[in-house]
Amino acid sequence: MSRSEFVHGTLAVLGSLIIGSYVLAAQTGLDPTRATSEGSMQGFDAPETVDLWRPGDPGQRLHILGRVTSTDGRPIPGAELTIWQADGAGRYHENRYRALLRTEEDGGYRFSTVLPGQYYSNKHIHMVVSHRAHHRLPTTILFKGDPLLDQVVDNDLAIDVEEARVDGETVLFGRFDIVMQPLRPE
Ligand SMILES: [Fe+2]
Repeated sequence: MSRSEFVHGTLAVLGSLIIGSYVLAAQTGLDPTRATSEGSMQGFDAPETVDLWRPGDPGQRLHILGRVTSTDGRPIPGAELTIWQADGAGRYHENRYRALLRTEEDGGYRFSTVLPGQYYSNKHIHMVVSHRAHHRLPTTILFKGDPLLDQVVDNDLAIDVEEARVDGETVLFGRFDIVMQPLRPE
């Protein structure tokens, strides 16, 4: 595959993800993203970074992007996302695979990591989203097609991932949009 082909492929994947976001923003009266347990590991002292992966780490590269909006569909800039997950082999580390991100002016965020391995349960990425005018939201990114996913209970938090070839490597792209509940009714 030529460079232009894989760049085109990557842009097509990103393009379809971004168009999905504008459709979402045009809606009103959105349901808040479901809150979940924070699990036993916490994202304390997470470094400010958008790349949790380091060369040599196990697992398949994964890029997550999304947008944080309020229930009226308006983007929330400056929301803080604390993220923590197992590595690609399913192991948690005290000082790895955690990150602190902030949303941009359009409410958008993105980070690069690996698809988490199984850790006695489904594949998952923990996240706590905070913003001064909204309820704190602990939630979890789950993955469609995971055989350990509970299709009845957890399907609303499960995302599709799409493959693209980047620099000769198969990389996964996924979108996880987040809706926060305002502290006061809108
Ligand atoms: Fe966990």
